[in-house]
Amino acid sequence: MNKNNNGNHNGKKSNGKAVTGAPSNTLTTRQGHPVYDNQNIRTVGNRGPATMENYPFIEKISHFDRERIPERVVHARGAGAHGVFEAYGKVGDQPIAKYTRAKLFQEKGKQTPVFVRFSTVGHPSGSPETLRDPRGFAVKFYTEDGNWDLVGNNLKIFFIRDAMKFPDLIHSQKPDPVTNIQSGERIFDFIANTPESTHMATFLFSPWGIPANYRQMQGSGVNTYKWVNKDGEAVLVKYHWEPMKQGIRNLTQKEAEEIQGKNFNHATQDLYEAIEKGDYPEWELCVQILSDDDHPELDFDPLDDTKLWPKEQFPWLPVGKMTLNRNPVDYFNEVELSAFGTGVLVDGLDFSDDKMLQGRTFSYSDTQRYRIGANYLQLPINAPKIPVATNQRGGQMAYRTDFAEGQNIHINYEPSFLGGLKEAPKAGKDYTPRYDANLVRQKIDRTNDFKQAGETYRNFEEWEREDLISNLSNTLAACDKRIQDKMVEHFTLADKDYGRRVAEGIKQAMEKMMQMKEKTAGTDGPLGNTSSKEGV
Ligand code: HEM
Repeated sequence: MNKNNNGNHNGKKSNGKAVTGAPSNTLTTRQGHPVYDNQNIRTVGNRGPATMENYPFIEKISHFDRERIPERVVHARGAGAHGVFEAYGKVGDQPIAKYTRAKLFQEKGKQTPVFVRFSTVGHPSGSPETLRDPRGFAVKFYTEDGNWDLVGNNLKIFFIRDAMKFPDLIHSQKPDPVTNIQSGERIFDFIANTPESTHMATFLFSPWGIPANYRQMQGSGVNTYKWVNKDGEAVLVKYHWEPMKQGIRNLTQKEAEEIQGKNFNHATQDLYEAIEKGDYPEWELCVQILSDDDHPELDFDPLDDTKLWPKEQFPWLPVGKMTLNRNPVDYFNEVELSAFGTGVLVDGLDFSDDKMLQGRTFSYSDTQRYRIGANYLQLPINAPKIPVATNQRGGQMAYRTDFAEGQNIHINYEPSFLGGLKEAPKAGKDYTPRYDANLVRQKIDRTNDFKQAGETYRNFEEWEREDLISNLSNTLAACDKRIQDKMVEHFTLADKDYGRRVAEGIKQAMEKMMQMKEKTAGTDGPLGNTSSKEGV
């Protein structure tokens, strides 16, 4: 069993001392009182009634009553592991300082501790890990300049490009508010009305929508970020994690169903067991770099997260390697309470104007203040591994005061002559982009919603295309005709063969459904044949 700094894994109380006069593994209450009887509540006679002053019982049961916190509104089902990131000290064959002054990347061999949480997106905590869904790939780097979170997915693009649409997208993928059953019709109702989702639907309904496990998948920051160098100059960057020795592996729908019939925790189990036996998974972190401007020469907007930056044009440049080598000691404290956000950047890394990224950045810390509480950043898994000194005080469950050594503890404000905290010296020249445009509510000019979806379809191998067509057809067969027609139109705009095959596939799947219905006539439940309307 691994040891962990975050947990008390030494069989002793947290101060390392045994309860007075008792062996070191003595059970206590949270007040430190030894528990003499953990089997019987205190009663009048051994048949009751019970008394209310029975502190060990009340503490035990009321803590149990509060064991659950709200699950993440998305990405509720997850698994995590600790590890280390090692920098290459360059980007491709160039000195990295040319592009970013972020300290974690500068020296070859420099190590930064990390914690990673993998997840599925739409399904609740405890749902099968074989379901068709993007996979989350969130990395927390505990750097010498404070934490950096790279909150990514396995797929390199997304359904939408404007944060305003996120709650609608997620509602369409969550269970129907009446039946509490996920519905393919609701999912495709949204997608058919959101042409920019065609590309993501193409990935999601192919085997890339069911990675074999968490180790054998890629990761991607999806949104566009910036790097800033010491002269205050910026470039646009996209981040990608490429699995090293373990490779990439995806499942067909049939393979996933076979696994699900036997094991619905297979991805968590795979990760945990690989690390326990010392088979540490590794990923190389690569970046794509583009100059910091609008790039009118491209037929897509580099800030549009529904698009790939083609690899042939913008090569993946390696900058370091991550190894996961330690399992959590306590799932709840480390995985469930971990909190990642796109706003968590260090000096030398910056935001781009990508509208999704801006919207995401508000959402993460907002939900975490609700899900975990105002002091979520004091928890060991979320706190940086460097001293923290703030003037923030109070709030539920505040258990530490963020003093700096030598600080006048009466001064919890700034500025002050009386020994309070001071602002940090600048790390380099500020990056100060200039804006000159009207404030509007408009979509971007270069939407180009279908071209890359067609390229992705043609780049798949034939077995991947077959699985894609079968998955789309089976789900769309149970949808309203308006949804079917619009989806076929969009797939045809992407690629004629793609549209034709989906149209034929829907027809065949509908015929099969009719035959099944005739065979089982009279046996449907109150909602009719809902099974084929099931979602992803
Ligand atoms: C988790 C919002 C788009 C990746 C979450 C959570 C929220 C959220 C509220 C739950 C966080 C928590 O409870 O700790 C949004 C919004 C988006 C958006 C508003 C768009 C406007 C994306 C995209 C990606 C992504 C494009 C992929 C790059 C993740 C991951 C997690 C997550 C990996 C789980 C983090 C963890 O393991 O704790 N998101 N999200 N999200 N999101 Fe997003």
